[in-house]
Amino acid sequence: MNSHFDRQHAFEMSGVHIRPRRLRRSEAIRGFVRETHLDVSNLVLPQFILPGKHERQPITSMPDFYRLSVDHAVTQAKEAYGLGLRGVALFPVLPQNKKDATGSESKNPQGLIPTAVKAIKDAVPEMLVITDVALDPYSSEGHDGLVREGEILNDESLEILAEMAIAQAASGADLVAPSDMMDGRIGYIRSALDQTGHRQTGVLSYAAKYASGFYGPFREALDSAPKFGDKKTYQMDPANLSEALREAELDVQQGADILMVKPGLPYLDVIASLYQHFSLPIAAYQVSGEYSMIMAAARNGWLDEKTTAVESLLALRRAGSQMIFTYFALKAANWLQK
Ligand code: PBG
Repeated sequence: MNSHFDRQHAFEMSGVHIRPRRLRRSEAIRGFVRETHLDVSNLVLPQFILPGKHERQPITSMPDFYRLSVDHAVTQAKEAYGLGLRGVALFPVLPQNKKDATGSESKNPQGLIPTAVKAIKDAVPEMLVITDVALDPYSSEGHDGLVREGEILNDESLEILAEMAIAQAASGADLVAPSDMMDGRIGYIRSALDQTGHRQTGVLSYAAKYASGFYGPFREALDSAPKFGDKKTYQMDPANLSEALREAELDVQQGADILMVKPGLPYLDVIASLYQHFSLPIAAYQVSGEYSMIMAAARNGWLDEKTTAVESLLALRRAGSQMIFTYFALKAANWLQK
């Protein structure tokens, strides 16, 4: 083979007088041309709430992340606020004896979540408190809606979801976040909140929530895995993008205040698409499995935890989400300190 070539011609073809690397020469110039900024004010800290006092339980599949009783959750919320975090999202860990077929504990105004909301709001009034609306942690079936003969009922589930949202709003939640994916729940819940004097409580809709394998560690943490089947008849098919726009459109019509995409990193195209098509703020959830993947690799020495975590959060921001739920929130708040 002939390895001779015309170097002069090759240089001319390279167009090398145009040099994008000039804008990468120093941290100073990189700072000026940086297009996206990740700020602690973008991050929401999820908290898994335990009954009782002085409880702090590790979660095998989520290193460095703990289930906390209300007193510890309050302390953590104060610490988070001090680091610049302005939002927490609460999820309950219920004992089996509090779970039943209809998830009735979910509407208890004195239940675990309303108690936690009140305690956090009392201690840190400026912290935005977000509550999850779905039956799975309350239901002996582990599904997000009511179950009859193996079917997840839609319209029949709306009432208990609305009652759960009312109990959360009454306890002081700033945003209720339906993650159940039942049809029509945003309008139903919006109306129920308005009729009960909770006009100022916002609805953050999990608009495009996919039937994902990445929720595994969360279900371990809450002991909320479905007792039969899967969630594919209500959560979305990971193959679909147009359907996410349709879901978002319905939620906008029904009065959602914020639209969420979940999981995060595997669905950047969905975030970007919703950001382009809708004028509502977009939220993203970097879910438990995304956290666990980075943590597992980092613990093996295969990835650098801080670099990859911050990079993945920045990517979620770049795609268009300004609110990011992440189990790295506390760590990232420390990393991002100037
Ligand atoms: C409840 C809910 C789930 C998550 C948030 N809300 C689990 C599920 O739908 O099975 C997952 C969050 C995570 O994995 O971090 N409906």
